Amino acid sequence: MRTPMTTQSLHQTGELTSERPVPASGPVDATPISLTPPDGDDLDPIWRSVVTETRTRGNDIHLPMSLAYAERLCTAHHEANRLLVRVTIALHDTGWGRVDEDRILSEGFSGDWRKAEIRFEHERQGCLIAREVLPPLGYDADFVEAVCAIIDGHDTRQEAYSLEDALVRDADRLWRFDHAGIALASGWFRMDPAVYSDRLEAEIIPELITAAAIEIATAELGRSRALLKTAVIR
Ligand SMILES: [Fe+2]
Ligand SMILES: [Fe+2]
Repeated sequence: MRTPMTTQSLHQTGELTSERPVPASGPVDATPISLTPPDGDDLDPIWRSVVTETRTRGNDIHLPMSLAYAERLCTAHHEANRLLVRVTIALHDTGWGRVDEDRILSEGFSGDWRKAEIRFEHERQGCLIAREVLPPLGYDADFVEAVCAIIDGHDTRQEAYSLEDALVRDADRLWRFDHAGIALASGWFRMDPAVYSDRLEAEIIPELITAAAIEIATAELGRSRALLKTAVIR
């Protein structure tokens, strides 16, 4: 059992400057994500608490991969609250595990999917799960609320409130640029890998907030396109 955390700094968030993209303050690693899996085992008790919730909507792929990207973004932004970003990205989509699975594909990926009621519902459920899982593991109330403040609206809110919020948002998108992300997410949108890769470049890269995420996404997309031969198989 970890020791309870009570110091102020554990839930403090960094200021998000208005400059876009937000420049990195530390080194950016744009090598394949499989070279830097999630760091250490301190989040293992959290993972064990949400195994059931990872079995929906590819969360058992999306969440650990996004954590690996989030850790890279934290290294590129050493002023960020690394623990807050790591815990939040690990839990952010667990709410999908508690919504009606049939509605995920029918509403969550069609029409105006970003505003679908099921998206708000997965954010609400994700906050409930964070409030269930984190306190027994020793995370204090202020930290849990800081986690929930980012999970709430992570898909449906337009703007990021803090540097940590921005890093979670970017990490949530970056996994799609790896070939595993393309393999999984292209099917959700009923697109082939070539068309989905084009969409990533045209629609998702412009949504990235940090320069580090843009650099990583561009490098991963180039590798994935070459690997999947998307220039020819289209
Ligand atoms: Fe989400
Ligand atoms: Fe996500």
